[in-house]
Amino acid sequence: MLRATGLTRRYGGVTALSEVDIALAPGEVHAVVGENGAGKSTLVKLLSGVERPDAGTLSRLDRIALVAQELTVFPDLTVAENLFPLDPPRRGFLVSRRRMASLASPVLRELGLDVPLDARAGTLSLADQQLVEIGRALLREPAVLILDEPTSALPADAVSRLMGVLRKLVSRGVAVLYVSHFLEEVLRIATRITVLRDGRSVLAGVETASVDLDGVVAAMLGNRALAPVAQRRPPRDGPPALVVDGLFSVAPGEIVGLAGLQGAGHLEVLAALSGRGSGTGMPRSVRAAVRAGVAFVPSDRKRYGLMLDKPLWQNTSAAAWLGAGRGGWWLHRRAHVSAARRSITRLRIRGGPDDLVATLSGGNQQKVVFAKWLEADPRLLVLDDPTRGVDVGARAEMHAVISSLAAAGTPVVLASTDLAELCELCDRVLVFQRGRVVARLTRSELSERALSVAMNAGT
Ligand SMILES: Nc1ncnc2c1ncn2[C@@H]1O[C@H](COP(=O)(O)OP(=O)(O)OP(=O)(O)O)[C@@H](O)[C@H]1O
Ligand SMILES: [Mg+2]
Repeated sequence: MLRATGLTRRYGGVTALSEVDIALAPGEVHAVVGENGAGKSTLVKLLSGVERPDAGTLSRLDRIALVAQELTVFPDLTVAENLFPLDPPRRGFLVSRRRMASLASPVLRELGLDVPLDARAGTLSLADQQLVEIGRALLREPAVLILDEPTSALPADAVSRLMGVLRKLVSRGVAVLYVSHFLEEVLRIATRITVLRDGRSVLAGVETASVDLDGVVAAMLGNRALAPVAQRRPPRDGPPALVVDGLFSVAPGEIVGLAGLQGAGHLEVLAALSGRGSGTGMPRSVRAAVRAGVAFVPSDRKRYGLMLDKPLWQNTSAAAWLGAGRGGWWLHRRAHVSAARRSITRLRIRGGPDDLVATLSGGNQQKVVFAKWLEADPRLLVLDDPTRGVDVGARAEMHAVISSLAAAGTPVVLASTDLAELCELCDRVLVFQRGRVVARLTRSELSERALSVAMNAGT
């Protein structure tokens, strides 16, 4: 249904993709994986016709739909308008809201998206916006469906619903190309896998039955090693470093996880701590929070985390400039640039200090948001899906950094849609429902299963 040979794409001096071959047969899921910056989104853009290759040949069907890595939902339009952006169903000359609803409802139901069709898309959570994006692609009834990290902001139940939808599509003969950093998820759904490293394919369309997780990781990383899982020390005794009245407190050096289904209230706590919400005793603005030394790593990096039109080094030094933490704002450009270099090496960011952040791949942008706080030496670390869209190598490195900040005494509050991440990092996890803490799991009680049971209990 699609065949490409020798695909090559350069951006200025960077070769993003080099002589890649790929083919898609009807009724198969073909996974594409690789480190951040390996060339996955570039491949997707060439295959879907968003961009042209510098070399190579490509033949494909027209009935191709793309779910892009970066959301393209229009925040000011309604959900319905976003679902039918080009030619909305009409009755005569008029757009028919009734037909829109009757076409969209079954698709949204299958995806588990329960929002009014006339809601403004910008008011939805990141996860729901991602589902609108997927719904829009499905409504085009494509013969080839390309998904670039569709689950990076989705909670577990939405992921399994999406997998169900994909299985149904392939049983009807649709071909699916699936890009993801969740390797277990990938190996479960895909029949073939291509691994990209530095723009080249190092495994080209092999059957997933013939590879295992370790083999895929080794192919992705080449001769680089994964960061070891950091040793955690028990949190320190003494007065709490942070008290959220009536809900919980955090000891110095403690990593407290917040979990819950959508709307459970845990994300409001993060918003309040980072100056974007309300609550007595909370910072009154983002600026006030930053001044108080609160580091906030958001999942929605475009909105809160980055200056896309500025070079990498200005982004990584932004927190220090604002007077955050205990680092100084008086450092010189040279010092900021060399700090940026340290972050680039440590987190394996594919890019240089002077590169504009807009030209980095999605996962590398997320690393920049994180790096910004590395040098600032914050008093409190607030994390919302900090490793969203980040590859396994950098994820391990970020986890090591979070653990070592905690080991040095920094209190950490972490929310994550990735339950494995909560289990790996947290000393305690508080499970929310309807704005209240309904369960507290200690380190020895923590497992993905236990978390999922507590989050869904009584619902
Ligand atoms: N418009 C652009 N200008 C300059 N460089 C670019 C541009 N788009 C991509 N690149 C570079 O091409 C390389 C591959 O990027 P790509 O987005 O394909 O990576 P990816 O595998 O999708 O990574 P991620 O997992 O982070 O999404 C990166 O080094 C990136 O910086
Ligand atoms: Mg990408």
